[in-house]
Amino acid sequence: MNLSNQSKLTRSHICSQLDSEMIGEETVVAGWVQRTRDHGGLLFVDLRDRSGLVQLVFSEKISAEALTLAEKLGQEDVIAVRGLIRKRPEENINREIPTGEIEITGEEMELISPSETPPFLIEDNVNAGEDLRLEYRYLDLRRPEMLEIIKTKHQAMQTIRRFLSQRDYWEVETPILTRSTPEGARDYLVPSRLHRGKFYALPQSPQLFKQVLMASGIEKYFQIARCFRDEDLRANRQPEFTQIDIEVSFIDLEKFQREMEELMREIFALKGISLPLEVPRLSYREALDRFGSDSPDTRFGLEINDLSAIFAESEFRVFSGTISSGGTVRSIRVPGGAEFSRSQLDRLEDKVKEHGAKGLAWLVFSEEEVSSPIAKFLSQEEIQQLREELNISAGDLLLIVAADYKTAVTSLGQLRLELGRQLDLIPEESYDLLWVEDFPLFTYNEEEERFEAEHHPFTAPLPEDIDLLEENPAEARAAAYDLVLNGEEIGGGSIRINNRDLQSRIFSLLNMSEEEAEEKFGFLLRAFNYGTPPHGGIAFGLDRIIMLLTGRKSVRDVIAFPKTQRATSPMTKAPGTVSPEQLKELNLKTIPPEEE
Ligand code: AMO
Ligand code: AMP
Repeated sequence: MNLSNQSKLTRSHICSQLDSEMIGEETVVAGWVQRTRDHGGLLFVDLRDRSGLVQLVFSEKISAEALTLAEKLGQEDVIAVRGLIRKRPEENINREIPTGEIEITGEEMELISPSETPPFLIEDNVNAGEDLRLEYRYLDLRRPEMLEIIKTKHQAMQTIRRFLSQRDYWEVETPILTRSTPEGARDYLVPSRLHRGKFYALPQSPQLFKQVLMASGIEKYFQIARCFRDEDLRANRQPEFTQIDIEVSFIDLEKFQREMEELMREIFALKGISLPLEVPRLSYREALDRFGSDSPDTRFGLEINDLSAIFAESEFRVFSGTISSGGTVRSIRVPGGAEFSRSQLDRLEDKVKEHGAKGLAWLVFSEEEVSSPIAKFLSQEEIQQLREELNISAGDLLLIVAADYKTAVTSLGQLRLELGRQLDLIPEESYDLLWVEDFPLFTYNEEEERFEAEHHPFTAPLPEDIDLLEENPAEARAAAYDLVLNGEEIGGGSIRINNRDLQSRIFSLLNMSEEEAEEKFGFLLRAFNYGTPPHGGIAFGLDRIIMLLTGRKSVRDVIAFPKTQRATSPMTKAPGTVSPEQLKELNLKTIPPEEE
């Protein structure tokens, strides 16, 4: 008996359970009408559930009553059908779908819930725009490729929980209504009704709590944790996203990193992808030097070269002047790049300018000659040195940026990715996993003229760099590490500071007074006064991992209900206005836009 009482027929099988072994058996299937084909007195309906499709056949001979009902069906109506599983005639067999050899006779049919005409077809390769898909996300999610992503994410979460539980990690929840956390993005704030003028902050990560959990003796913690950051959105960033958050006391870093590599391998194995067994390590400096990025895509070459030694004394003032004022001259050699047209080269120049470079000089090499807008400024010697040191062949293009170090390498790093795409150099089926380590402890904020924590203020310096802290803070390196897959930062973590004096030194270098530190992180610092194990950990971006695992280009595709680039939800229309009563209760007033 169907206790829900919403339909007479109770489903006995889902589509994926039906096959030619079951020919002759009776079944009740239920789901959505994918499409109907009316051959006059003979009607076919493709029925879809989350597991797949099956063909139903209605006719006068099978059941006149069911046929009459079925003739009125439209796309996305929900129906249940009782019938016999039978073999399709040879000429009707569809090898494309698992149930393609069979069909179900429509002996009895029930229209459970009719559908309005959907705004787009429920099928893969949908041509509806993303805003429309997000407004009708429930229809979008019905599409097989979206259901597959949701399922994969579910399976990944099960794998993570099993893997970490087997290794004695405990899953612990931490608060969503909390105080500001130290990741450095803008907070989402929630006004307090009971405490006038006070606000909760939504956590940017569980960082402070997982460290308190180490002081609490939990020793090995994990959480599949929701995080909130009010920052500029990109394809790989959402305001609300999920981390696999992990922390370990008495950490053996080598062993821990091996274990994390193994976790990634198990997740990717869900889709039959084998991640490499050897995971190379690159220092932050080397990653920037060679690839112009701290999350380099190492699946292709086009590495960056340093030309400063060649051009230090050059007649071309753009180069020598940049070097003498502390900058650098870097280049990318593009084999076969002589083919590029002038307008293509202009577009490449625009690309580096987007990333702060003042210009892009180019040289095209033939066997004997060099053609370039700056050829007249370069000596024969300089050109000869370029040919030798860069192993230049005829037909090569050399692209050069002169700028301060960070601008030179990052603009060329972006150019490298663009060239990789344009020249089709990126092998889509390969997976390059690597650790980037030895990050700087601090970055200098030019505007505010002060140092900021590159990772967060609890990250320990490398022991050998502790003496640099006051002497030369910009050079001090952190015991921090990122895991990078195919040019995407999928995780980041560090060893934490476990010593009150060192923590105070870091706060003072960050220009944070004892009072301010107390106000922000007092509970953590106090917890550390009662015996704290050495500890460290990592957090992985689950959405980014699933994006790579399912071959998508945006994390929006792997989140059931994501926000747009403008941080809105076209389905719920969040963020929305609230009533004057609600504002009054919270002691809040909004300023209309024109008075801002
Ligand atoms: P971090 O800020 O590097 O470290 O974040 C960890 C990982 O989370 C993912 N990520 C995001 N994914 C989607 N949308 C976003 N807006 C977004 N921001 C970050 C990235 C990143 O590698 N508490 C520290 C971790 C630690 O030290 O243990 C932290 O949050 O994949
Ligand atoms: P200009 O003398 O400004 O016309 O520049 C001559 C060439 O040098 C042009 O092709 C510019 O794109 C290039 N150029 C200008 N500034 C830089 C720079 N900072 N780095 C590399 N090339 C540059």
